[in-house]
Amino acid sequence: MNKPFLLHSDAKSTMPILSLFFFFFLLMLQHTFSTTSTSNTIILQGNATFQSPNATFQLGLLGFSTGFYLAIRHTSLPTPNTVWVANRRTPAPSLSSAALHLTPSGQLLLTHNSTVLWATPNRTEPLSLKLLDSGNLVLLTRRGVVSWQSFDHPTDTWLPGINLTRFNSLTSWRTSSDPSPGPYSLRLTPPHYGQFDLFFNDAVSYWSTGNWTNGNFVNVPEMTIPYLYSFHFANPFSPAASFGFSEQPSDSGLRPPTMFRLDPFGQIRQYTWNDQAGSWNMFWAKPDPLCLVRGLCGTFGLCVGEPSKPCECLAGFLPRDNRSWSSGDYTGGCYRPDAECGTSDGFRDLGAVGFEFGNVSFVKGKSRRFCERECLGSCGCVGLAFDEGSGLCKNFYGSLSDFRNLSSSSGEVSYVRVPGGGSGRGFDRRVLSAVVIGSVAAFGVVLVTLLVLVKKRCGRRGFEEDFVPVLNLKVFSYKELQLATRGFSEKVGHGGFGTVFQGELSDSSVVAVKRLERPGGGEKEFRAEVSTIGNIQHVNLVRLRGFCSENSHRLLVYEYMQNGALSVYLRKEGPSLSWDVRFRVAVGTAKGIAYLHEECRCCIIHCDIKPENILLDGDFTAKVSDFGLAKLIGRDFSRVLATMRGTWGYVAPEWISGVAITTKADVYSYGMTLLELIGGRRNVERPPSAEVGESGGEMGGKWFFPPWAAQRIIEGNVSEVVDKRLGDVCNMEEVKRVALVAVWCIQDDEAMRPTMGMV
Ligand SMILES: *[C@@H]1O[C@H](CO)[C@@H](O)[C@H](O)[C@H]1NC(C)=O
Ligand SMILES: *[C@@H]1O[C@H](CO)[C@@H](O)[C@H](O)[C@H]1NC(C)=O
Ligand SMILES: *[C@@H]1O[C@H](CO)[C@@H](O)[C@H](O)[C@H]1NC(C)=O
Ligand SMILES: *[C@@H]1O[C@H](CO)[C@@H](O)[C@H](O)[C@H]1NC(C)=O
Ligand SMILES: *[C@@H]1O[C@H](CO)[C@@H](O)[C@H](O)[C@H]1NC(C)=O
Ligand SMILES: *[C@@H]1O[C@H](CO)[C@@H](O)[C@H](O)[C@H]1NC(C)=O
Ligand SMILES: *[C@@H]1O[C@H](CO)[C@@H](O)[C@H](O)[C@H]1NC(C)=O
Ligand SMILES: *[C@@H]1O[C@H](CO)[C@@H](O)[C@H](O)[C@H]1NC(C)=O
Ligand SMILES: *[C@@H]1O[C@H](CO)[C@@H](O)[C@H](O)[C@H]1NC(C)=O
Repeated sequence: MNKPFLLHSDAKSTMPILSLFFFFFLLMLQHTFSTTSTSNTIILQGNATFQSPNATFQLGLLGFSTGFYLAIRHTSLPTPNTVWVANRRTPAPSLSSAALHLTPSGQLLLTHNSTVLWATPNRTEPLSLKLLDSGNLVLLTRRGVVSWQSFDHPTDTWLPGINLTRFNSLTSWRTSSDPSPGPYSLRLTPPHYGQFDLFFNDAVSYWSTGNWTNGNFVNVPEMTIPYLYSFHFANPFSPAASFGFSEQPSDSGLRPPTMFRLDPFGQIRQYTWNDQAGSWNMFWAKPDPLCLVRGLCGTFGLCVGEPSKPCECLAGFLPRDNRSWSSGDYTGGCYRPDAECGTSDGFRDLGAVGFEFGNVSFVKGKSRRFCERECLGSCGCVGLAFDEGSGLCKNFYGSLSDFRNLSSSSGEVSYVRVPGGGSGRGFDRRVLSAVVIGSVAAFGVVLVTLLVLVKKRCGRRGFEEDFVPVLNLKVFSYKELQLATRGFSEKVGHGGFGTVFQGELSDSSVVAVKRLERPGGGEKEFRAEVSTIGNIQHVNLVRLRGFCSENSHRLLVYEYMQNGALSVYLRKEGPSLSWDVRFRVAVGTAKGIAYLHEECRCCIIHCDIKPENILLDGDFTAKVSDFGLAKLIGRDFSRVLATMRGTWGYVAPEWISGVAITTKADVYSYGMTLLELIGGRRNVERPPSAEVGESGGEMGGKWFFPPWAAQRIIEGNVSEVVDKRLGDVCNMEEVKRVALVAVWCIQDDEAMRPTMGMV
């Protein structure tokens, strides 16, 4: 049922179409529209579309929950995504009466009936319109000069070719099905224009890339992957600053499509297209964790960080707007359903939550009782915080936002005012609270006594019934590990998978306790994986002694390595290792990984080989740690990638292009680690220091140690690469050998890399 003005400019038919209708004269030749000097040209109407020459992108009117929008989609992908939207604030109510015109004065107009919904600036000369294969919609003068382009006005998606300047920004969608502008934006930060910040409501900055230094942003070195995309920052630290990126040409054809997107929950994310999976692969997301995004859950909303539903209302509160809450917009927050100021109010214990900001003022008091009385006496008071250590309290007035659980308690406990007594410890329930506290104390004494008794018994008998079917793998209770680590106080490291604490067990053996941050899968899967890991024993692998899996807690208990991680010895100012030790570390690490790949029954790809994960025991024997954890975290590699904060220097190129990962990915990371071992330095200094001019490798204006080192090694100048701290006391034959192995391992083509056994 073609309507009179309906135009199908489907580019799959390659024949140029010429059509004449009343005063509307239309010429479409090679996907270009031009105006005559007297009349408007209709470019699209209704569901007609307009494609780029190679059909990579398509312009058309798209329906969303809020109406119809003029949008560009990436249609060469099996699941096209929307990369640009014109009329974000003014959707067309229906498709059939909407049309896109080009006027004789060079203006692009989107109309519905006769109402103009969106327009480009009016010019004085006829222009032609093109949609390029980069996704850029351009208006050109007769001489081919760009008069207007959509790339100057990006929405939430940042494609190769788009430059961000102080005149534009990325702005999130309101929800995943509503393209209207959301509260989050990414823009160059005034007054220096040397970094990007994420803003809430254009006012509150909640994350920053850090300054541009030596070809990297200080806080996100993984953003500027030098071997895939070329980033250029023209005139940084000036009002003329312009930052963009393009795809590096590759030998083997085109790079996978990539994009940055500011998603509706306020995270900036980088994606690459995974051809095999047929979906976008998230490479990284910031800020991480999600709950650091400001304003996400609104007032009295608690951020729980669940990607599909990150917000909940505090107990006793309800969403202000049920519709937007269920459609994925939580910024409206929550409210107290009863009259806001009851005399029988109490306080609910929120535990160790933080709230980042809100329209709040506070008054300090000297005791909790004082604060409670004051708070209940004033209708504007919404809650209080009490620091058990100092005995000081604070009362809050106004509204509180951005509640989130804190992993480490500062000793301050927050209470929110709720109707009807809250946790039963309100001011007018003093007697009751005394009773409660009394009985809790009494119960506590009984419990402690019981625990001590149980412990004594267990000390004699052991936890036979708690052994999983693995020799020597012990099940610990959370309490036990809390005790062993003195309340998780002695932090000795932090990796992508979790935080590591030193602890001492009741038999006075020292252990390292790893608290997993984002365990995937359930209890059963966890136990299965842990028993797999527990079964693997090798002199060059860190031994798992036990684990704890209680409620949401997932902890692993490892033998303790006195000499810490290899990374400690790879800093200029840190301690150094002799060549002998380095050589032993290189060989030992290779043996450990080879065992994982080839000898143990279940072939394990480590996925995160780097100096932080190579530990040294009392004799400086290298032991690989964290093996099996990639699987434990979940089989979704984008999730693993997301946990690999700042370790992109070790990630094999095939990871980024999204093909299936093999053991060769570990070989690549091992090669990168060898280069650091030889050079006695990190491949990427974080933050990159001022020593670049002296010894750094330059690559397209970016500094990255491995290409420079590899070049020298291939030319036979190994001595230039080797750590100057070693002086002459090293076996050059061995150094050369290790260096060549390293170069062999870091080849882009995984088929060319050796297996770990060969190494
Ligand atoms: C456009 O809409 C008409 C009816 O409104 C329909 O017949 C036609 O198939 C649609 N075309 C496309 C490409 O969806
Ligand atoms: C479009 O496709 C042709 C042939 O397939 C190719 O030669 C050309 O490079 C492509 N152009 C772009 C911009 O991708
Ligand atoms: C647009 O025009 C159609 C018919 O021409 C009419 O039925 C409809 O009410 C109009 N819509 C608006 C929003 O003016
Ligand atoms: C655009 O400019 C042309 C020529 O100067 C003028 O006739 C027309 O009214 C202008 N359109 C708008 C919307 O201002
Ligand atoms: C972005 O900047 C680069 C380098 O300054 C320039 O070559 C390119 O044309 C710019 N792109 C756009 C769309 O303006
Ligand atoms: C970033 O650079 C600007 C200008 O050089 C400087 O004033 C500012 O302190 C720097 N910021 C940080 C965090 O180093
Ligand atoms: C946050 O803390 C509350 C109370 O301490 C607890 O009930 C809730 O499960 C925690 N949520 C998360 C996501 O850890
Ligand atoms: C939202 O839904 C809850 C439960 O479904 C209901 O109790 C509440 O009144 C609703 N709130 C609004 C503002 O409609
Ligand atoms: C903050 O709260 C005060 C009163 O508590 C109110 O007068 C003011 O308008 C509020 N400001 C905002 C931005 O909500």
